[in-house]
Amino acid sequence: MQYDSHNKFATTTVFLHWLVGLTIIGLLATGIYMSENGVYALYPWHKAIGFIILFVALPRVIWRMKNGWPIAAANYKPIEHKLASIVHWVLIIATLMMPISGLMASVLGGHGLSVFGIEVFAPNYSVDDPEKTLPINYELSKLGGAIHFYLGYTVIVALSLHIAGALKHHIIDKDGTLKRMLGKTISE
Ligand code: HEM
Ligand code: HEM
Repeated sequence: MQYDSHNKFATTTVFLHWLVGLTIIGLLATGIYMSENGVYALYPWHKAIGFIILFVALPRVIWRMKNGWPIAAANYKPIEHKLASIVHWVLIIATLMMPISGLMASVLGGHGLSVFGIEVFAPNYSVDDPEKTLPINYELSKLGGAIHFYLGYTVIVALSLHIAGALKHHIIDKDGTLKRMLGKTISE
């Protein structure tokens, strides 16, 4: 199996980074849009795609932990190393914790989860009023909701630094950092 090297990233690394990364960007945008504007029609889509991505995020995180973090493509300053490392940790933790906390909020909140018509977790309907759902575990669902909310905004800050860093390396430093994550072999 091909692993990450200084000159080239494994195809698995590149594929999982972009598949999970671009999906997460889409979910951050739809998540904020739908909850701020009460667009309930988007909730089932957000929940279904967020649930599916968990099954790609899990192998991605295991792959990253087994492989270790990539060796820097060029000579960064120590402060850049530190910042990149903090940002990568926030992003990799969020890759797992965003779908898990969303699931906790929804499923333990009694709302259930359907993935494109297939019921994965049934809603917890009230016996007295079958139109209403009741939480399965109120405290844990609230905890999940709080993690989902605060981590979501933390990811946006981390992601802004992440993208700014990638562009700085590409445009100002003109090193191979971004090219390597696009699957290219670099020479430095
Ligand atoms: C347009 C958006 C993005 C760009 C341009 C981008 C670019 C990059 C680049 C160039 C690297 C390699 C850094 C290095 O060699 O040290 C990288 C690594 C990484 N990126 Fe992104 N990224 C983006 C979105 C995301 C998103 C949304 C996430 C997760 C929420 C993410 C998580 C990570 C992680 C954890 C790494 C460390 C290496 C790895 O685990 O494969 N990125 N990114
Ligand atoms: C990587 C996956 C995910 C990302 C990046 C993400 C991101 C977000 C963001 C940024 C928000 C707006 C902030 C908030 O109100 O909490 C949000 C809202 C929401 N997300 Fe997610 N989400 C993901 C997965 C999930 C999953 C798997 C579920 C449930 C199964 C879910 C359920 C919800 C719900 C119900 C809301 C609305 C909360 C409200 O109206 O207060 N999310 N999501």
